[in-house]
Amino acid sequence: MTRLADKVALITGAARGIGEGIARAFHREGARVVLTDIQDELGQAKATELGERASYMHLDVRLESDWERVISKVLELQARIDVLANNAGITGFEGASDPHDPEHVSIENWRSVHATNLDGVFLGCKHGIRAMRRTGVGSIINVGSRSGLVGIPGAAPYASSKAAVRNHTKSVALYCAEQGLRVRCNVIQPAAILTPMWETLLGSGPDRALRMAEYTKDTPLRRFGSVDEVAALAVYLAADESAYTTGPSLLASARSADRNVRTGSGVAAQLHKAVQPSRRQNRAHHRKTLPILPNSARNRDASPIAPSTSSAFRSSGRRRT
Ligand SMILES: NC(=O)c1ccc[n+]([C@@H]2O[C@H](COP(=O)([O-])OP(=O)(O)OC[C@H]3O[C@@H](n4cnc5c(N)ncnc54)[C@H](O)[C@@H]3O)[C@@H](O)[C@H]2O)c1
Repeated sequence: MTRLADKVALITGAARGIGEGIARAFHREGARVVLTDIQDELGQAKATELGERASYMHLDVRLESDWERVISKVLELQARIDVLANNAGITGFEGASDPHDPEHVSIENWRSVHATNLDGVFLGCKHGIRAMRRTGVGSIINVGSRSGLVGIPGAAPYASSKAAVRNHTKSVALYCAEQGLRVRCNVIQPAAILTPMWETLLGSGPDRALRMAEYTKDTPLRRFGSVDEVAALAVYLAADESAYTTGPSLLASARSADRNVRTGSGVAAQLHKAVQPSRRQNRAHHRKTLPILPNSARNRDASPIAPSTSSAFRSSGRRRT
């Protein structure tokens, strides 16, 4: 398979999950791939496994100095960058159970999610465009989320950051076109894709299959999407066959259009449910604390009670992606 023969591709967040899948697919199609991540051991191992035409570099997408260092190294070694996949992203619930609803999310958590998901994409696009000016041709692929199309009360920073990624993609696409560059920029918006991001929720043991079924029961195909199914879209966007595609959002989502906006089963929404108190508990808590506590104490007290995954699993209500 040679749809990407001789192309040089840089992928962020490539140590695992969707980024790893994109790197593997690009490599299979003949590209020279540069995997980047902050999990260096894992990322290096994945590059070594791929072998020839694959390498690994540390790149924290939040840091402009990292982008400058990595891009100039790749240009020095490979002379060009043809494809950039801005995939690295976080939900904000990694190892933490703070509330992420619009009323209680801390400014630190808000900024932290945006720093990775939005600043990371902004910096990637900025330095990607500059690198691609060398040849005047290229493909920037941003990974957003269906969460960028809906409001998610319990994962507001994630939803906001992904909505902004979607919009910034269009600015980049239009800017490159105005500049006379053949650099295109598109965004893939996955729904529920089975990656390590979901592991906390799914757990192991006999209930795992039940949970998987529960989380996807309101999707037409009634299953999670696979990393390969997202990677296939990325290959299309990286290849010359998509030369006339710039600006749009491609959904990697088993949903019919009419159910698109108000239902979902995305990881951020589900993780939020797993760490949030129930609405009843929230109301009781507010009755108890709101009149007497200052803001800082109120936010601290309103932090989640972190129910078990199984209680989140049992909780009912509309699911969002
Ligand atoms: N899995 C899903 O259901 C789903 C749905 C919609 C969107 N997405 C998006 O897809 C992308 C990949 O998600 P995933 O499910 O593979 O997640 P994942 O957690 O399995 O992998 C994310 C990778 O990004 C890396 N990363 C995190 N912060 C980073 C930083 N500051 N700099 C560089 N790398 C960093 C992590 O180390 C990890 O290797 C994310 O942008 C995510 O928001 C995922």
